[in-house]
Amino acid sequence: MNYIDLPEIISASGVVRLPGSKSLSNRFLLLAALADGTTEIRGLLESDDTARMLDALNALGVHVESLGEHAYRVVGCAGRFPNRRAELFVGNAGTAFRSLTAVLALTGGDYVLTGVARMHERPIGDLVDALRQLGADISCLGNEGFPPLGIRPGSVRGGIVRVRGSVSSQFLSGLLLAAPLAGCEITIEVVGELISKPYVDITLATMARFGVLVERDGWQRFTVTGGNVYRSPGALSVEADASSASYFLALGAIAGGPVRVEGVGSESVQGDVRFADALRAMGAEVAAGPDWIETRSPSGGLNGIEIDCNSIPDAAMTLATTALFAHGATTLRGIASWRVKETDRIAAMASELRKLGAQVDEGDDFLRITPPAVEALVSPSHGIDTYDDHRIAMCFSLATKAVPLRINDPGCVAKTFPDYFERLARVAEQVPVIAIDGPSASGKGTIAARVAAALGWHYLDSGALYRLTALAARRAGIAWTDEGGVAAVAAELDVVFGENSTRLAGEEVGDAIRHEDISVGASQVAALPSVRAALLFRQRIFRRAPGLVADGRDMGSVVFPDAQTKVFLTASVQVRAERRYKQLMEKGIPASILPLLQDLRERDERDSQRSVAPLRQNEDARLLDTSNLTIAETVDQVLAWSREPS
Ligand code: DC
Repeated sequence: MNYIDLPEIISASGVVRLPGSKSLSNRFLLLAALADGTTEIRGLLESDDTARMLDALNALGVHVESLGEHAYRVVGCAGRFPNRRAELFVGNAGTAFRSLTAVLALTGGDYVLTGVARMHERPIGDLVDALRQLGADISCLGNEGFPPLGIRPGSVRGGIVRVRGSVSSQFLSGLLLAAPLAGCEITIEVVGELISKPYVDITLATMARFGVLVERDGWQRFTVTGGNVYRSPGALSVEADASSASYFLALGAIAGGPVRVEGVGSESVQGDVRFADALRAMGAEVAAGPDWIETRSPSGGLNGIEIDCNSIPDAAMTLATTALFAHGATTLRGIASWRVKETDRIAAMASELRKLGAQVDEGDDFLRITPPAVEALVSPSHGIDTYDDHRIAMCFSLATKAVPLRINDPGCVAKTFPDYFERLARVAEQVPVIAIDGPSASGKGTIAARVAAALGWHYLDSGALYRLTALAARRAGIAWTDEGGVAAVAAELDVVFGENSTRLAGEEVGDAIRHEDISVGASQVAALPSVRAALLFRQRIFRRAPGLVADGRDMGSVVFPDAQTKVFLTASVQVRAERRYKQLMEKGIPASILPLLQDLRERDERDSQRSVAPLRQNEDARLLDTSNLTIAETVDQVLAWSREPS
């Protein structure tokens, strides 16, 4: 499986220039394509969802040229796409699918619109019904009420059309965007409650930028008079994405701050900027200017709130994970539409929040999150699942303020924010690591433990995990050469490290893992790639605040490649054999020098020759030969290096 392991973060601060708004980008592209004249769009979001819209426009024969630096030139077709017959694949881009359906149904032509499997599960019947009322010829090619759709030239007439507003505001937006293409007056009446109203505002504002004014009676009736046509405004810029801003604003609120997002602010047309009000209600310090917003954590911490999220459905997901850091429960109401988004977001969020240790109550249209104390949040060993939903991947990254986290299939963020995790790393101060690698008996363990004690940091003896795996495999009767069997043991290793104790399956192991036969077994199982993979996240979760000193063979190269300080600790094989001999004698374990020497040579050979994570000095690690150094001198040297700016 594909995953990203995110370290715990200590604090977050900085400035983030956000990518363009998805909602604005896809609306601008579509109206620029339909307009009379050429439009230059600046600051376009470059992501999967906009790529799907660009693909569709390309298939429809619209000329779009990339000018670089997120700028595009679109040659408008004055309401008539050059290609009257096309098959369009729109992935899982709701903004593209719904608006294109309406536009193609009212412009005439033979089209097929398809998407990914999930898109075919997302209802579109309300929009199809409304377009049929206007004389459009649309058929559902799979299940009635769902994509894929077949569109044929119909005999479009004006008049009054009714559409339900409670499933998705994109149905109304689609009708509005398409209405000027019908050539006659169309009045759209909304039946029932309209959800996500701010997105309809974005639609109306975009139409106005392209010269079409809609007469409206509140949120009930919208009239587009005949003779309205889209005209290019020449050039226009896409605001930054307010939903994408939510992750960084929440980060400022939970991890110190100040975190400032640029490109959206008090003058934004996007409703999701109101997410900042929700943070304020939780107690966060929020400041804003026309095109920026900045957040900081309040001194007393955040408080849970009860909030109707009807107008901020996307950013509300960020509130669900922010709630993990609040005192008391947070209740999100008015989120029924989550059920028909990229996934059933209510079910998915509830399930993943529970994995972290939160108590979650869910209903048809609400979610109540009661967090444990922050210290009691846990990092699920199999990671957070993302359900091919970009927002789940992004909002759960906030939990790294409490725990290191594995996020499965993180590539889904490409839907709206392809470089999200890199941007996150730039504002997050991650828990620091000192990685100490080196051969057997080089003194790594002693040095690493003392450096950790001197700094008050955590200590990871990664070799102990390989030793424990060898021991657990032996106890389970699994041969050390049985890669699948040993990897399964490693994945389920039930180990608890205490101050001066190590418990395997509840039982103190004592020196059992230090015996020579287990050393040989550890070296054998450590050469198996699936065993190393199974132990990877188990090692990474030791990276807890305020810092970690880790010793092993591949700490600086594989497990913590971003470690601030990397040391390759070694000593001559003779010196190491003597040290190991002394150590064993002190523990009352019988030993003699010559076999130890022989054994160390063989182990060095095996550890450095194996194909996965072989023992060698990383080019960015500093060599420390301790043959002639005391323990205190060695510790001092490592500490001195760790204080050097990286
Ligand atoms: O450091 P140690 O002697 O306790 O390690 C036991 C074995 O595990 C040794 O043969 C090397 C292997 N090991 C490894 O391959 N990677 C690590 N990070 C740590 C240990």
